[in-house]
Amino acid sequence: MTVETGAAAAYIVAALLFILALAGLSHHESAKAGKAFGIAGMAVALTATIVLAIDHGISGAGLALMIGAVAVGAAIGLWRARVVEMTGMPELIALLHSFVGLAAVLVGWNGYLHVEATLDGPGSAEAGALRAQDLLGIHSAEVFIGVFIGAVTFTGSVVAFLKLSARIRSAPLMLPGKNQLNLAALGAFTVLTAWFVIDPALWLLVSVTVVALALGWHLVASIGGGDMPVVVSMLNSYSGWAAAASGFLLENDLLIITGALVGSSGAYLSSVMCKAMNRSFVSVIAGGFGIEAGPADDKDYGEHREITAEGVAELLGTADSVIITPGYGMAVAQAQYGVAELTRKLRDRGVKVCFGIHPVAGRLPGHMNVLLAEAKVPYDIVLEMDEVNDDFDRTSVVLVIGANDTVNPAAAEDPGSPIAGMPVLQVWNAENVIVFKRSMASGYAGVQNPLFYRDNSAMLFGDAKERVDDILRVL
Ligand code: TAP
Repeated sequence: MTVETGAAAAYIVAALLFILALAGLSHHESAKAGKAFGIAGMAVALTATIVLAIDHGISGAGLALMIGAVAVGAAIGLWRARVVEMTGMPELIALLHSFVGLAAVLVGWNGYLHVEATLDGPGSAEAGALRAQDLLGIHSAEVFIGVFIGAVTFTGSVVAFLKLSARIRSAPLMLPGKNQLNLAALGAFTVLTAWFVIDPALWLLVSVTVVALALGWHLVASIGGGDMPVVVSMLNSYSGWAAAASGFLLENDLLIITGALVGSSGAYLSSVMCKAMNRSFVSVIAGGFGIEAGPADDKDYGEHREITAEGVAELLGTADSVIITPGYGMAVAQAQYGVAELTRKLRDRGVKVCFGIHPVAGRLPGHMNVLLAEAKVPYDIVLEMDEVNDDFDRTSVVLVIGANDTVNPAAAEDPGSPIAGMPVLQVWNAENVIVFKRSMASGYAGVQNPLFYRDNSAMLFGDAKERVDDILRVL
């Protein structure tokens, strides 16, 4: 067996391990095994690539650089994965997607410099071989498409990172004629691709890089905060296609397979999330296509009512049933342990307690479920939004712990709201609603919440963990 065929076999094994990883990660019980498959697949792939490079006669310096890069990358990756807070996970993922995009741009440019750029002179050996097989046009198209997808992914992911880490505002950028701008960029890409295949000039590659960088920036900047979960999975998909494009250029089958796996699973996740949030898939991937700016939300909803921890404890003392709807604030405050303790106390007293979990509560899919599982809240009382939404009107007290957008009645009642149509937990139907948060500030989507001003709502201000502990003390 030659090294080439050995590497090809190793690539197939790695691809199978990646498929097993995806399958494992889709269920709680098998997630750990899925992770192990992924790590094994990546180890096999990296080893095969290094052996292949040695077989192709890589220089000593080249080999040292390659192994050095793997070591430095692995060290940074390990360090970041250890220190990242769970609430910081989406921005870390967005940043990692930007690296894939940047890599695809660099691979594309490298392909151009090795082949098309040499055509004015005698032409490189690679260019000669491609020309002899009449494949030069295909190579140019691969370069162009790879650079385009990579650059869109790169700036799109950087904007997503900035929005998710609150370094820029999460409200959608509403440039006049934004849909036309996006369409014009796609039109320019199509024309420039055809042109580049006929005449692979440097200025065309520079132009498409600039257009794609601007398009990626604009696509994600135009999407409002409430739709960011879908954007992250959409960029995941884009990064997969960017990797697959690089795979074609580098003639690396594993990169093509892995890219296609990531691309299609990301697209599927985006579509599932769009369904859960009642959003149009096409509209979101096209940068909020068709969504125009709504009127500014500066309505006066009247006065809000405040309550103390003692008041809440008293209310809970007389309650028959309690639903807890946690959100991002519970994660920030790390209030899950106190909430679990409160749940135990109430259940011991015969109160019916359950949790209502919105599909995008927090900052990553399943965020609340993980926190509650960590605090040992029994699985069977942690219910999904659809399972509890009809129960609120039979509930004495709802505790909204650091949730905001996911319990906003404007989504259901105000067609002009930026989050209109998004299914939400209908907490306002309960007898009493207690909202735990530190101020009257809006949630991630930057939209006011009329829930806070309803007659049956009361605000319990302060850090969610401290307030839950206060209630526990009184109880
Ligand atoms: P948000 O709407 O983000 O609201 C969280 C609330 O928690 C804030 O209003 C904040 O109010 C409060 N808070 C923050 N720190 C707190 C603390 N220490 N103690 C008490 N309260 C605290 O939360 P949500 O209802 O969970 O909705 C999630 C939002 O994030 C949605 O818009 C969703 O689209 C978006 N998003 C979700 C994901 C995924 S996949 N889940 C990913 C990206 C974005 P104060 O500042 O007044 O305390």
